[in-house]
Amino acid sequence: MLLSIPGVLNKDAVAALRCEIDAAEWVDGNATSGHQSALAKRNLQLPEDSPAGKNAGGLILDALERAPLFVAGALPLKVFPPLFNRYGEGHGFGMHVDNALRVRRDGGFRIRSDLSATLFLSEPEDYDGGELMVEDAYGVHAVKLGAGDLVLYPASSLHRVESITRGARVASFFWIQSMVRDDARRTLLFDMDMAIQTLAREVGQGHAQVVSLTGAYHNLLRMWIEV
Ligand code: NI
Repeated sequence: MLLSIPGVLNKDAVAALRCEIDAAEWVDGNATSGHQSALAKRNLQLPEDSPAGKNAGGLILDALERAPLFVAGALPLKVFPPLFNRYGEGHGFGMHVDNALRVRRDGGFRIRSDLSATLFLSEPEDYDGGELMVEDAYGVHAVKLGAGDLVLYPASSLHRVESITRGARVASFFWIQSMVRDDARRTLLFDMDMAIQTLAREVGQGHAQVVSLTGAYHNLLRMWIEV
């Protein structure tokens, strides 16, 4: 499932975060990737131990906890501390898949990457190109969202970032280990959750059908959950 989640950060939060990270020291993005993806990658990143990056990453993790659509769609068990990239003119990232295991350099954190996330920190009108292209069973999807919006997609998807022809694209990116490993199961649970919430708004949270469907949702979750 490819899921766009608008407004994870509001515009004020984006501006404050950009202030902090724009002034930090950026390095060649290949310092952070495995050699397979290094072949195709041209961008800048904040080092994992960047104080500005750690601080900004903490703000993003807090915001994710307050984003119900993120929680419903990702069913997160562990979220990798957010990293930051900057694509300027001529930068891009060729077709690749993300590594199954993500380990922080200091060794203190490791997760299985079930989902990849990109949180856009530039407005789409500030750059040309830079679309995140994600392939799934239904074709190739071009994703270019507003500053503060997030996209979630299976980490197993083939994806790339189109070359930038004007301006710069700043984003945060990270991975999620989900409580439900299988994308099809996670998608089914998400669709069911959304349908129950819509029904609850129409007939009330305490309605017998809502209670019954909520029970069915949790029974499925109980079968599939890994914690
Ligand atoms: Ni990637």
